[in-house]
Amino acid sequence: MRKIYIFDTTLRDGEQSPGVNLNTQEKVEIALQLEKLGVDRIEAGFPAASPGDLAAVNAVARAVKNATIIGLSRSRTQDIDAVREALKGAEDPCIHLFLATSPIHRQHKLRMSKEQVLETAEAAIRYAKQFFSKIEFSPEDAGRTELDFLCEVTEMAIRAGATVVNIPDTVGYMTPVEFGNIFKTLREKVPGIEKIQLSAHCHDDLGMATANALAAIENGAEQIEGTINGIGERAGNTAIEEVALALETRFNYYQAKTTLNLKEIARTSRLVSKLTGMPVPGNKAIVGANAFAHESGIHQDGMLKEKSTYEIISPETIGLVESKLVLGKHSGRHAFREKLIDLGYELDDEALNEAFAKFKDLADKKKQVSDEDIRALLEEKLVDTPEVYRLEKLQVAYDNRSVPSAVIAVNVQGEGVKEQQAEGNGSVDAIYNAIDALTGEQVELEDYAIKSVSQGKDALGEVYVVLGQNGVSAQGRGLSTDILEASARAYIDALNRLIERRKSPRRRDRMSLI
Ligand code: KIV
Ligand code: ZN
Repeated sequence: MRKIYIFDTTLRDGEQSPGVNLNTQEKVEIALQLEKLGVDRIEAGFPAASPGDLAAVNAVARAVKNATIIGLSRSRTQDIDAVREALKGAEDPCIHLFLATSPIHRQHKLRMSKEQVLETAEAAIRYAKQFFSKIEFSPEDAGRTELDFLCEVTEMAIRAGATVVNIPDTVGYMTPVEFGNIFKTLREKVPGIEKIQLSAHCHDDLGMATANALAAIENGAEQIEGTINGIGERAGNTAIEEVALALETRFNYYQAKTTLNLKEIARTSRLVSKLTGMPVPGNKAIVGANAFAHESGIHQDGMLKEKSTYEIISPETIGLVESKLVLGKHSGRHAFREKLIDLGYELDDEALNEAFAKFKDLADKKKQVSDEDIRALLEEKLVDTPEVYRLEKLQVAYDNRSVPSAVIAVNVQGEGVKEQQAEGNGSVDAIYNAIDALTGEQVELEDYAIKSVSQGKDALGEVYVVLGQNGVSAQGRGLSTDILEASARAYIDALNRLIERRKSPRRRDRMSLI
């Protein structure tokens, strides 16, 4: 079988999505799930961006045992040294060097001639070769680079010691035929091409990232770079789950496969969405909430008669199991444990007790607790952030002819419970004003989103907020059957994360990726 290697860059290019800023613990949590998913390579970050980024890459490098861990580097010795430092302790380290090669980038960004680009990249690869046996080189904006020059750059990279040459369509400009042709040409024209792996890295600006990645595979790419849920700069990157499922479902056409554990896809998608605070659109291929929903009568009729009429992938393939056991307020520990096993969670006794207490609490408020509710409860606190502030009580007064007001009681670490009242334009605004007054924190609400976890009037509501302060931002989540309480919890969660982030800032200067 022809194997396609999966290079996951959720923690690097994915983290470059506007508004996303993962802390070290969150990065490790995602990396461990990517390891379970079975990705071959994990790009953990850009160590030269800041000491915090370097530390986060190092934490991933030490935690993950079954995937190559990669650090991104410009073609500069300081960056290469930062990657060396960050990858200490990695079982299987690799450096990813890049330098732009297209005429637009050479002229306007780098102000370098073709010769200077070749010399700079070669010097960087040769320097890195002293410390790394695995080196990936990316001619940035390869898609818009003259094909002859791209062949020259690739030949140089192979001579200098690269083991993978990655072809990025940095701005998502290529069409599948054009992008495929680059791979065909490199395979035909570059001496020594058989010594290295060719890789494709696509962006989705014109909605063609997955199609371009598949075209690359058809023309000889052995590795695909992408992210979970397709997150990333601007319109995002190739979605790994889309490539994996296209190869799986259309094996008769592509004759190639990944070695991903496809049953981990749904869980990985949920985790990335939660920790990045980026909701997955309902109609997103493979992992969207509607990907397996059949609405029209004709489709439902077809499905009942024979699933293959309208379903080309079964939800079970990506690990979406609907367990038959229905839980409610009379369900006991045993049934709850069985449900968790059904849903694929392994919890130790302490975690089980904690989850069971939360479940009982929810079952008192809801008639039936759905699988989605249970997943949301279990994944609510995926990463333990020290709680400087903890919500104790919330009271809101609203009538549509007067100014809404809120009273909030918060347990402040080391100071005990404090109470504060405030008014606002709406109930949520009043709550947030009360929290601001109580904590004295000057923050800006950069984003607020609300989503229902399951169906029905008593559904759990999940609120995401992003708070900003002096250029540092943090996202928070809150879960409750009451959306006002979920809103308060999300805000307080984001505040706690912001305080944690202030201690070890990972301020990434996007301009430094030049
Ligand atoms: O899109 C791009 O060109 C990149 C490079 C750093 C590989 O992300
Ligand atoms: Zn990219």
